[in-house]
Amino acid sequence: MKKNIHLLAMKKSRGEKIVSLTAYDYMTARLEEEAGIDFILVGDSMAMVVFGEENTLGADIDVMIAHTRAVSRGAANTLVVGDMPFGSYEKSDTLAVKNAVRFISEGGAGAVKLEGGNNRSVSRVKAIIDSGIPVMGHVGLLPQSIKKTGGYKVVYSDRRDELFEEALALQQAGVFSIVFECIEEELARELTEKLEVPTIGIGAGRYTDGQILVVNDMLGLSGEFKPKFLKKYAQMDGIILEALKKFSQEVINEEFPAESHVYHSRKKK
Ligand code: KIV
Repeated sequence: MKKNIHLLAMKKSRGEKIVSLTAYDYMTARLEEEAGIDFILVGDSMAMVVFGEENTLGADIDVMIAHTRAVSRGAANTLVVGDMPFGSYEKSDTLAVKNAVRFISEGGAGAVKLEGGNNRSVSRVKAIIDSGIPVMGHVGLLPQSIKKTGGYKVVYSDRRDELFEEALALQQAGVFSIVFECIEEELARELTEKLEVPTIGIGAGRYTDGQILVVNDMLGLSGEFKPKFLKKYAQMDGIILEALKKFSQEVINEEFPAESHVYHSRKKK
């Protein structure tokens, strides 16, 4: 049976952890589904890890939807969440609904995520849910707001009131889950206990209802990038580099292709 938003609520009610990763392509999505990941986020982090941009602000809606479609094909039985990029929902509720609909109808996603819990974001969330599309919220560090906030900053208890107010407003608006990004553990724990909807942490400590990481980072594909919250479960950089060098050497040394790799004439001798 296809995993959906209700699985997350059920897991929270049972005290079972929710496991999530980002994915941006068909092959990775296939493996994540095989690994039993509960939901896959096609994050706007794609702008950085796939396209090498400095931040997520350049993520393009058409590209995001094309990649969401690839991920949905690779993980047909997993909940896929499309991340609404910067510029795709800020201007009006109408624009937000139009683009959320594209993630579902063109991208094959089962839900969308958008950043922030201020009045404007809450209005967009309500409008999208009203059109029949489940929405995941996102509070704490908001990468799409770095120009306003002045950078990537962990949220500590001096911003407690604002954080609680935004998360509760999102819950009230009807989100099915909320991402907590880079929040002090004690604060994330208290807020997770207060909220009815499941919380998914990245850099938010051990007590959120679930965890998410950027797949390229946890696979060790992002070079020296190593924020405190990240654990690398593999060192794919090294493995890939070794394979590339070996291929190069074998071509230069005329070891590849070998006899077993070539097609011969079909003419009978
Ligand atoms: O874009 C992304 O990958 C995200 C995660 C950090 C939650 O929003």
